[in-house]
Amino acid sequence: MLAISSGRTVPKSATAVDIPVASDELDQLGADRKRIAELQGFEGEIGQTLVLAGATDQAIDVLVGLGARDDITVDTLRRAAAAFVRAVSGHKAVATTLAEQAGSLDASLVLRAIVEGLGLASYSYNEQKSKPTPATLRKATVVASGKGIKLAIDQGNASVAAVTLARDLVNRPGGSLLPAVFADIAKSVGTAAGLKVTVWDEKRIAKEKLGGLIGVNKGSTHPARFVTLSYTPKGNPTARLAFVGKGVTFDSGGLSLKTGLGMMSMKIDMGGAAAVLGAMTLLPILNAPVAVTAYLPLTDNMVNGDATRPGDVLTARNGTTIEVLNTDAEGRLILADALSLAAEAKPDAIIDIATLTGAVTAALGPKIAGVLGTDDVVAACEKAAAATSEPVWHLPLPADYRSMLDSKIADLRNIGTGPYGGALTAGLFLQEFTNGLPWAHIDLGVTASVDADDGINIVGGTGVGVRLLAELAASWGA
Ligand code: BES
Ligand code: ZN
Ligand code: ZN
Repeated sequence: MLAISSGRTVPKSATAVDIPVASDELDQLGADRKRIAELQGFEGEIGQTLVLAGATDQAIDVLVGLGARDDITVDTLRRAAAAFVRAVSGHKAVATTLAEQAGSLDASLVLRAIVEGLGLASYSYNEQKSKPTPATLRKATVVASGKGIKLAIDQGNASVAAVTLARDLVNRPGGSLLPAVFADIAKSVGTAAGLKVTVWDEKRIAKEKLGGLIGVNKGSTHPARFVTLSYTPKGNPTARLAFVGKGVTFDSGGLSLKTGLGMMSMKIDMGGAAAVLGAMTLLPILNAPVAVTAYLPLTDNMVNGDATRPGDVLTARNGTTIEVLNTDAEGRLILADALSLAAEAKPDAIIDIATLTGAVTAALGPKIAGVLGTDDVVAACEKAAAATSEPVWHLPLPADYRSMLDSKIADLRNIGTGPYGGALTAGLFLQEFTNGLPWAHIDLGVTASVDADDGINIVGGTGVGVRLLAELAASWGA
């Protein structure tokens, strides 16, 4: 992993250093450099970089675009750092002066974002390579002076580690990341972060009547797990939150089997649980003022002679009976139990996050997650999402659509009637298990992974939701 630290000046070891340039300030480069920039098509846009030749005894200068000066945000600097680190990946040690571009922005948030940009854009997933190529770039220095630098850099590095954990989990093949393996990782990572971690095995899951989780797990050779992690702040908590994450370690669809193409990416289906786990590890270093308990139902969704059949009826933790008409709508079945458990503890708000529907991606495309729920908690999610630049869009929970979930033989059916509004009926289904508490549901759709490098993301798992949920807890009530 890239070692990122701060320094008052560019260290001698750095062989590349950036020159941040706003798109409306190219003149400041001087005539020669401006002409080179123009000839090379460098316009100072966000994401653009241009490596300039340098003398052998000097660090190489790299122009890094910032977009228009007046439009610079914390995220601009995060993305500029990501672009820079990509441009200099062939160097061993580099330095960035991006922190000097903060202007009136919060200096600590800027530092954290620059560390995130550097660390996240230099991520790579090597676990499955027989001969992993070690990264050339080992060290990055963020040039900065002033107060609070160490904490901001530490928080940035913790954020990189948490998102990296979530990405690694999403990228790991379904056959390797079995529920028990995920639970072991949650136990060790959570304990190391100072959280209290409980793991329920299949016997305990049966005793606790988690009928949705048991139903989804029925077709599997590998037993389910249910993980709880809790964080308690130092002083009196200002509120109590519950995080719930969908942890389907592989989604074949079950007997309502997916197509080959539809199944291909389904190792990502624990992206919600990975986001919650990553976020939980950040709460201590962010000094979040709220108490948070996280609930992670973990299973794969597989097929064998005993798999849940379309038409079978399951009884969720809260007693609601569910007619399973499509075994591929499995996420909501395990979330039903987890939300019921979360609601039993009567928290001030529940936030669940899940790769729940393809329908949300049909509506919002591959880079925006849907958020549904009660207005106050949805607003808190939108605010956190704006702060971390992990885009979400508010979708409705139309009361009029609730009847689409009426079952002829049980309390609820697990899919709506007809082909439309799948993200909304999924949300309406989950709402049945929140006991009327303030709640928001984040449907990630495919945003849990990307199919090409983009901004701070590297092909594969994005770790989306880690920073959003941590920010939500850290700024709750503010
Ligand atoms: N895990 C999928 C949703 C999904 C699909 C996430 C593609 C990311 C990318 C979920 O379990 C699922 O299969 N949902 C079905 C629901 C349908 C059967 C009502 C879907 O979206 O097609
Ligand atoms: Zn499914
Ligand atoms: Zn799924």
